[in-house]
Amino acid sequence: MGEVRILPPEVRSLIAAGEVVERPANVVKELVENALDAQAKKIEIETLGAGKRLIKVRDSGKGILREDLPKVVLEGATSKIGGVEDLYSIGSYGFRGEALHSIAKVSKLTIRSRHFSEARGGELYAVGGEVKRISEISHPVGTTVSVEELFFNLPARLKFLKSNRTERKAITETVISYALAKPDVAFYLEQEGKVVLDLKPASRDERIVEIFNLDYTPDHSVAETDIGRAEIFYYTNYRSNKFFVFLNGRPIYNREIQTHLRNKLGYRTLAVLFLEIPPYLVDVNVHPRKEEVKFLRERKVLELIGNLFGKKQRTPSAVDLLKSPLRVEYETEPSLGFEILGQIEETLIVAYRKGFVYFFDQHLLDEVAKFDLHGDETKACKSSLKAGQRLSKEEMEALLKRWEELGEPRTCPHGRPLYYKLPVEEVFKKLDRRW
Ligand SMILES: Nc1ncnc2c1ncn2[C@@H]1O[C@H](COP(=O)(O)OP(=O)(O)OP(=O)(O)O)[C@@H](O)[C@H]1O
Ligand SMILES: [Mg+2]
Repeated sequence: MGEVRILPPEVRSLIAAGEVVERPANVVKELVENALDAQAKKIEIETLGAGKRLIKVRDSGKGILREDLPKVVLEGATSKIGGVEDLYSIGSYGFRGEALHSIAKVSKLTIRSRHFSEARGGELYAVGGEVKRISEISHPVGTTVSVEELFFNLPARLKFLKSNRTERKAITETVISYALAKPDVAFYLEQEGKVVLDLKPASRDERIVEIFNLDYTPDHSVAETDIGRAEIFYYTNYRSNKFFVFLNGRPIYNREIQTHLRNKLGYRTLAVLFLEIPPYLVDVNVHPRKEEVKFLRERKVLELIGNLFGKKQRTPSAVDLLKSPLRVEYETEPSLGFEILGQIEETLIVAYRKGFVYFFDQHLLDEVAKFDLHGDETKACKSSLKAGQRLSKEEMEALLKRWEELGEPRTCPHGRPLYYKLPVEEVFKKLDRRW
């Protein structure tokens, strides 16, 4: 007998479900998206045990027809698209007909709902995906979904969850994302009996001020190019760095945009960026839950975002930067093309740019900049940063920025190479992965 076995369908679907829903925040995301797709004007979310005991989402949307109630937990059950379409161009958040099915598989699920056209509502109760009961109830127009004992049948998944605090935070962040995307919808979030968010319908900037408790209205800017439109709200006096990015109304994550914003706005900025870009320029297949997005014309997208900060900018000269050796003036600087990955052995700066990982010699990097200023090798070398010095991210960024401004020299004044770059493609090949 061979060693390969084909898993029974029940096991396969449980595994698949566990992939759509990895943690409580994923459930919250799916239920909130469904509520928004149902045109809810008010969404109330309640969780217990960091979402492991209970996640309850109640909406004032159009509700579910009684005859549809048994269907919504079936695989591929959706009212949102009829066939194969350009999934990113559709107007709703949902389209796979997958979420409720997956959630049902890994929890004890109750859906209570009344459609606006019906006098009575319906209730469905399912355990591990199996429908146990369907009954008639009274319920206001709209839907209440309760997810109890998440992962009761996937104990391994429960073990992989982070601390309750972290899981709760992920839930709050999820709700905040949608609350930012839809300021005209009222959101209420309660965790372990405590009110976390209570947001009335508002304008975009009012909502930002309210969620983050800002003491003044964030700056606002709009830009348009041939590729699309960008709108940003940013507050540069925040206690940490927080960037929210939305693409055609969906919260997304994109590394390059994050880096770009950080370079433009610095480390104490809260920014909310809305992009409207035609769906055919977006590659959503990067992440199974479609959280990470790649753009086919990335440079153009970054240029569009760059235009948001347009005119006011001033490029500091190398001399300016050297006067205060490792100070960075974020607001006024053009963006750094690199994403800093870290420092190795207090000697090398590791950074990523366009498909390559660069290893820079920190001492030589500093030396070329000083040489450019003094024009004197020995002096430059003496006053330079030594290997063995810990650098902050800001310091590393300042060094790379100077190097970019100097025209990206390959060697130091003595002719030693400044960096070594490794194509990520190579690494992918080594790992048998397609680039
Ligand atoms: N809160 C709700 N209000 C009204 N209808 C809902 C609600 N939640 C789910 N439905 C109905 O149930 C169907 C299945 O929901 P489900 O989330 O599983 O799939 P989807 O939203 O169509 O796609 P996706 O899997 O991408 O989220 C939806 O298409 C919708 O018709
Ligand atoms: Mg859905």
